[in-house]
Amino acid sequence: MSNKDRKFRSSAWFGPKDRDGFVHRSWMKNQGLPEHLFDGRPVIGICNTWSELTPCNAHFRKIADHVKRGVYEAGGFPLEFPVMSLGETLMRPTTMLFRNLVSMDVEESIRANPIDGVVLLVGCDKTTPALVMGAASCDLPTITVSGGPMLNGKFRGQDIGSGTNVWKFSEDVSCGAMELSDFLDAEACMSRSAGHCMTMGTASTMASMVEALGIGLPMNAAIPAVDSRRYVLAHVAGRRIVEMVHEDLKISQILTRDAFENAVRVNAAIGGSTNAVIHLLAIAGRLGIDFDLADWDALGCDIPCLVNLMPSGEYLMEDFFYAGGLPVVIRELGAAIHSDALTVNGRTIGENVQAATCYDRDVIKTFAEPFKSLGGIAVLHGNLCPNGAVLKPSAATPELMNHRGRAVVFENIEDFHGRIEDPALDIDETCVMVLKNCGPCGYPGMAEVGNMPLPPKILQKGITDMVRISDARMSGTAYGTVVLHVAPEAAVGGPLALVKDGDMIELNVAERRLHLDIPDEELARRRAAWQPPEAAFERGYYKLYVEHVMQADRGADLDFLVGKSGAEVPRESH
Ligand code: FES
Repeated sequence: MSNKDRKFRSSAWFGPKDRDGFVHRSWMKNQGLPEHLFDGRPVIGICNTWSELTPCNAHFRKIADHVKRGVYEAGGFPLEFPVMSLGETLMRPTTMLFRNLVSMDVEESIRANPIDGVVLLVGCDKTTPALVMGAASCDLPTITVSGGPMLNGKFRGQDIGSGTNVWKFSEDVSCGAMELSDFLDAEACMSRSAGHCMTMGTASTMASMVEALGIGLPMNAAIPAVDSRRYVLAHVAGRRIVEMVHEDLKISQILTRDAFENAVRVNAAIGGSTNAVIHLLAIAGRLGIDFDLADWDALGCDIPCLVNLMPSGEYLMEDFFYAGGLPVVIRELGAAIHSDALTVNGRTIGENVQAATCYDRDVIKTFAEPFKSLGGIAVLHGNLCPNGAVLKPSAATPELMNHRGRAVVFENIEDFHGRIEDPALDIDETCVMVLKNCGPCGYPGMAEVGNMPLPPKILQKGITDMVRISDARMSGTAYGTVVLHVAPEAAVGGPLALVKDGDMIELNVAERRLHLDIPDEELARRRAAWQPPEAAFERGYYKLYVEHVMQADRGADLDFLVGKSGAEVPRESH
């Protein structure tokens, strides 16, 4: 309901005709802002993760300019502000360590400033959940605008996908099927335009989640970064956020349990990244929504994968856009979607996709004749993962999804790197590779190392997949029969810490079972002898993180960030 006479929270800063109001307005005017912008109109914060160290988001100043056009056009007052950016390819030890830190930056930046509504500019993997988590804890009217995927990679007449082809080419070099000089030539061919990874990796998955949750506009996920329609979407988002402030339409009114159920089903239908599991759990935690790891399996397991995109398939996001994008997928899901869920444009998700048309059935299949019958995320349980673990069936090898094998254990990532290429390593393709101490506390930050490369001597046999188990995550662009997010993790004494070389492990995805086949008494003996690692971090954010991070099954948020504090105007600073 619109109320054009309502006073917005920004009026607490810009409204008073006194000393404090003078201070708030006067310093802002040094930017050339005229008096009429301080007349009580909605102030729209444009939360920007632009950074030259985050190449996927390096075009965001231009996107922000288009958002501003829309805000001005609708009678709002746009103010762009930076938050810490997270560049997936450069940051060490892993961007995931900093997702929660950025969410705090976002939350506190919004609450501390004269902002009435916010547009979140997101792209590279962790920037999306980090900004949505922070905004959810403030609960103002919010629209998320993704930066869009890169154009398809083109290498010697072939389409190549971010990440997915890196892993493949690297294996080819490892087994002698590709020359190093050709591998290096592919670099520039893969990343040839602005935008984020153009496979259905984590960035494209999270951009799709934004659209499926209703906190982004239709087509948010698929429009390429350099397509002029990406700027149109940003412009329209700028107009719409002003209306949302007038309507007082808060993010919590969009992010309901139904919205999360829709997102889980859409994630299955797009063959989305396992990282979405952790991020959506964390976002739901901020809003107090009853949504847990079991929901991922219960809601998504009967949804087939409709989208033929890498890493599960062969096409890329540019093709997905030309085929009709996410609205086609959502429409195809029919009754599996809560069609009356509200979205940021004021319409329901059902209304948004009503006219969606598919222009390429090779790229987006029908529900009746899907791309793969197994979409979704399988949530595993058993004595090796009492609080759960996940596997993405659409990226796994069907024959390996029911497998019993001898464990080959790596104590940490350095141990893995040190021994994996050793011809004397006692391993064959029937073994189960186990990697410890890469979880939230152990790495720290839960790195994307779960898709361990296979030993060269196995790749040379032409074998490209083995069962791999860890407490790590994996890149959304990766593939394989990879069990991830084992909880509790090894570093806090989860059963994964107790696995030894030669133990037999059983994986049965159909039964959702992950079992360490040793007697209970032996497991108890090993547990009694287990020593926790020494505290590695004495100060700073690392210490705060390790002391407060929750396990993967809780979204790996910091325990004290769960919930929201709203956006009440804090006390004056002077
Ligand atoms: Fe940024 Fe993949 S590296 S989205």
